[in-house]
Amino acid sequence: MSDQPHVYPVPDDFASKAWADKATYQAMYQRSLDDPEGFWAEQAECLDWFKAPSKIKHTVFDTHDVDIRWFEDGCLNVSSNCLDRHLETRGDQTAIIWEGDDPKDSKTLTYRQLHERTCQLANALKDMGVKRGDTVTLYMPMIPEAAMAMLACARIGAVHSVVFGGFSPDALAQRVKDAGSRVVITADESVRGGKQVPLKDNVDAALTREGSDVCEKVLVVQRTGGEIDWHEGRDLWFHEQVDPQSTDCPAEEMGAEDPLFILYTSGSTGAPKGLKHTTGGYLLHAALTHRYVFDYHDGDIYWCTADVGWVTGHSYIVYGPLANGATTLMFEGVPSYPTNGRMGEIVDKHQVNILYTAPTAVRALMAHGDDVMDSSSRDSLRLLGSVGEPINPEAWEWFHRVIGKQRCPIVDTWWQTETGGIMIAPLPGATDLKPGSATLPFFGVQPALVDNEGNILEGATEGNLVMLDAWPGQARSIWNNHERFLQTYFSTYKGMYFTGDGCRRDEDGYYWITGRVDDVLNVSGHRMGTAEIESSLVAHESVAEAAVVGFPHDIKGQGIYIYVTLADDVEPSDELKKELTKWVRKDIGPIASPDVIQWAPGLPKTRSGKIMRRILRKIAANECDGLGDTSTLADPSVVDDLIEHRANR
Ligand code: WT7
Repeated sequence: MSDQPHVYPVPDDFASKAWADKATYQAMYQRSLDDPEGFWAEQAECLDWFKAPSKIKHTVFDTHDVDIRWFEDGCLNVSSNCLDRHLETRGDQTAIIWEGDDPKDSKTLTYRQLHERTCQLANALKDMGVKRGDTVTLYMPMIPEAAMAMLACARIGAVHSVVFGGFSPDALAQRVKDAGSRVVITADESVRGGKQVPLKDNVDAALTREGSDVCEKVLVVQRTGGEIDWHEGRDLWFHEQVDPQSTDCPAEEMGAEDPLFILYTSGSTGAPKGLKHTTGGYLLHAALTHRYVFDYHDGDIYWCTADVGWVTGHSYIVYGPLANGATTLMFEGVPSYPTNGRMGEIVDKHQVNILYTAPTAVRALMAHGDDVMDSSSRDSLRLLGSVGEPINPEAWEWFHRVIGKQRCPIVDTWWQTETGGIMIAPLPGATDLKPGSATLPFFGVQPALVDNEGNILEGATEGNLVMLDAWPGQARSIWNNHERFLQTYFSTYKGMYFTGDGCRRDEDGYYWITGRVDDVLNVSGHRMGTAEIESSLVAHESVAEAAVVGFPHDIKGQGIYIYVTLADDVEPSDELKKELTKWVRKDIGPIASPDVIQWAPGLPKTRSGKIMRRILRKIAANECDGLGDTSTLADPSVVDDLIEHRANR
């Protein structure tokens, strides 16, 4: 077998019909670097401005003074860009197709209906005292009200902070407190895979935690009618507040650099950080990438399987598609319910043309064999997309051959919560594909690879992935903590944005992301800090010390491997393993469930007391031959014990 990956050339029909062919991509990309001001001024014309910007780009990537402003004297409103401006031409077109957890449940909302409901909700929020600049936390199921809530906040200039509905009360409390939200919007319960998740109970619990009493009002969507506690004076039913409101609510004129939302994500240290995204640049980046990378054309039915609790849901279920007047499908459930054929069945039912999903979902299906897709034809599909983690070539090929029936290009899109939108990805009419590579940078994106000293490496090589200049959708800061923003992203390599990812570039200039180089895990496309899980564990009375690393996992990409040193006099047992698993799930959420727990009488440490994670990662991966230099360890014998009792072989 040759080392050269199989190349999938651009299909002819894409080259002729797509928004960009090879020459267009190259010309536009080059122009975006040579003349960023001119390029972005022109692109910004695709948005509707109350006041068009005259200042286009003011960006400083200096370690001591990071200052990122795009279109700073322009005024616009995100909700009127996603709704009002479409009413004349496509008021009766479907904006959102909602597919419930139960296959018998689905409905559609036209642009006109979505506009009316959003205006009503915006008026209700105003009645509840929400003002421009206030933050509102959303802890919601995947129902159209989630999109309405985001758009209603945007309409009145409030800043939303969506917290994934799978997070625990403690995780929610931490985020409500940090954002300082006086209002939380939730539902009685969400429904996933036939099971109810008690969202309102979780909110009740969260709001008993210290500091989360900043929240004064809870607006509750009735999703299931399940039983919930009611706090008179604090809790309000969504339908009672929203239904009587006027369907007219003028959109606030926001500055391009006014905050649109906060979204929390995990880093290698400390509490989750609330990335701050602003209005003009973010919306332009989301809309432009949605149009070019998914080659979105009028009439296409587009489905992104993410949850609105993650940035993918923000940019590619709600803002990008709606800004482009698209029909976007929102799915409440899970791909394995009621059967493993559900994803294909949804594609057939709604005649989906573009399907954007995650490698972990593809691998889970692949594990069931090709006939898992037999219950659907998927003949409507034209294009596939992947996001969240590197897609291994095997899963890529299966995605292409079985799900896409060898007809559909796959756009493997690399980006991050911090980047706001897609950064490195093929354009289906312009880029030949190589399975496993996110290929080439989007307009205005200037990736580089650097060594550990920050020297820029040229040609085909491998290194740390950085960005040399700003792009419009970039996060501007960390909420309440600009210093941490500088430290996290701009202090490792001077004058550059550091992504935290390692990456290889081949002779054709294609980028191949190799995964995180920091202590961040990526489990089923969910990002988690090892430090967060460790601090949860050491809070348990039986635990003296804990170290968490990732290990290769067939379906999740990475699994969570935990080394635990027990407190004196505590005996290891299977019960205790179960107890610790429950503890972490309760503390952070089910997505942080450990896959493997190993009892560790001692952890490998340097003489200065630093845990050597490199060694722990190798043992977790069952690669015990190449442990490298262990001579700097304070007590090399602990390694032998860990190897002997390793749990993954
Ligand atoms: C991290 C960002 C971007 C939305 C979902 C995740 C990894 C993401 C890819 C890809 C290889 C990828 C990176 C990145 N990642 N997409 N196509 N190929 N790796 O957002 O939670 O902020 O995580 O996900 O490691 O740094 P996020």
